[in-house]
This record gives sequence, structure tokens and C-alpha cells, in this order.
Amino acid sequence: MPIVAPSLLSADFLHLEKDCIMLNESEADWFHLDVMDGQFVPNITYGPMIIKFMRKTSHKLFDVHLMIEAPERYTEDFKSAGADQLTIHWEACRHLHRNIQQIKSLGMKAGVALNPHTPVENLKEILHEIDLVLIMSVNPGFGGQQFIPHTLTKIKTLRSMIDDWSLPVKIEVDGGITLGNARDIVNAGADVLVAGNTVFSSADPKATIASLKAM
Ligand code: DX5
Ligand code: ZN
Repeated sequence: MPIVAPSLLSADFLHLEKDCIMLNESEADWFHLDVMDGQFVPNITYGPMIIKFMRKTSHKLFDVHLMIEAPERYTEDFKSAGADQLTIHWEACRHLHRNIQQIKSLGMKAGVALNPHTPVENLKEILHEIDLVLIMSVNPGFGGQQFIPHTLTKIKTLRSMIDDWSLPVKIEVDGGITLGNARDIVNAGADVLVAGNTVFSSADPKATIASLKAM
């Protein structure tokens, strides 16, 4: 049974509390929170201030996906806001190892995200230091995009690396996940499914989350 992490990027920000309560009442495991800076990705979303407000609504795990340049500048701010887990992009860090140590020293779990063009083999020297790899299955920046099919190959390759080395690292897949492709993604080796549009544009978001859990 996969971990299901709905992305609040597609929530109704005018009635954010309502969507947070809906997730609390659902089978969702994690809140997936997408932070964008308009530099690393073309879009701008929200930061620690909004996450701090959301934190008041829920005890579920806050899985924060930082799509920002030089994320080490904000690690402490996200910790104070209530992040349980911080995922930073391989492409946005000059000193990835140092940044991971910083996240872990503050008591958070550490993840590394890979853009669609970045090979999973690039993680070979860091995989034993991290809790999670986030494989982007769309180009980061926007919700509601189409799943890139080659991602399935990347998931399988990473699954073999993690299993061969007996590491406790989770594989999270993010972007374009639907009720139609989720089973293939889990079969390829994913542990965590992120879904924004599929959950929040659904007529019955709780039922959609339950269907994703059942994959
Ligand atoms: C995209 C974000 C995703 C996004 C997924 O850059 O990282 O988390 O919200 O949205 P969907 O599921 O709509 O593709
Ligand atoms: Zn994300």
C-alpha cells in the first residue's frame, strides 16, 4: 500500500483550512507542500509563513518540496514553520552533502529531488545519507501536467540501487499521477505517490485518495 501525499498546490487557497481538514479526515498520509521561488522554477507559490498556518490544522507529516535555489538559506525557517521532512533539488545545490547534513542536524528527514533529465545514478555517493528520493515525473513548476513515461525506467533503476544496497530510502514520485497510471508507478517501485490535480479536481477528493491508497 503506497504512502499517499496530496499536493496542496491544487488546493483552494481562499479556503485553505477546509482543504486541510478534508485531508485530515481522509486516508492521506502526508501533506505535500510545494515551495517555488520564481528562479529555480518559473512559478512562485508560498513559503514558511503559510506552512506555519497550515501546521495548526494537522498532525500529519509535512513533506516540504523546495523548488528553490540555494535552499540552505531557508532550512531553519522551514523547521520553525513545522516541516517534518525537507526535500531539496539536486540541481539547486552546490554543496548537496552539506545541505543534507544541515537538514538532519535540525531533526528533519532529508530528501533529494531529481528533475526529469537528471540520472538517478547521480545519487550514488549520497543515497546512504538520505531518507527519500523524489523523482519528478513532470518538469517542476506547475500542477496538472502530463506524466513523462520514461520516469518508470528511472524508478526501476533507483529501486534496484536501493534494494541492492539494502537502504531504507523511500522513492517518492511527483507529477501527473492519475488513477490510470498510479498502479504502474507503484509496480515500478514507488513508495510514495504525490497527487495534486487528481485529488483536488476530483468530485470526491477523499474517495480519490482512498483509491490511490488501494493501488
Ligand atoms: C510540481 C509539483 C507537484 C505538483 C503535482 O512542480 O512539485 O507536487 O503539485 O501536481 P499534479 O499532481 O497536478 O501533477
Ligand atoms: Zn512537489
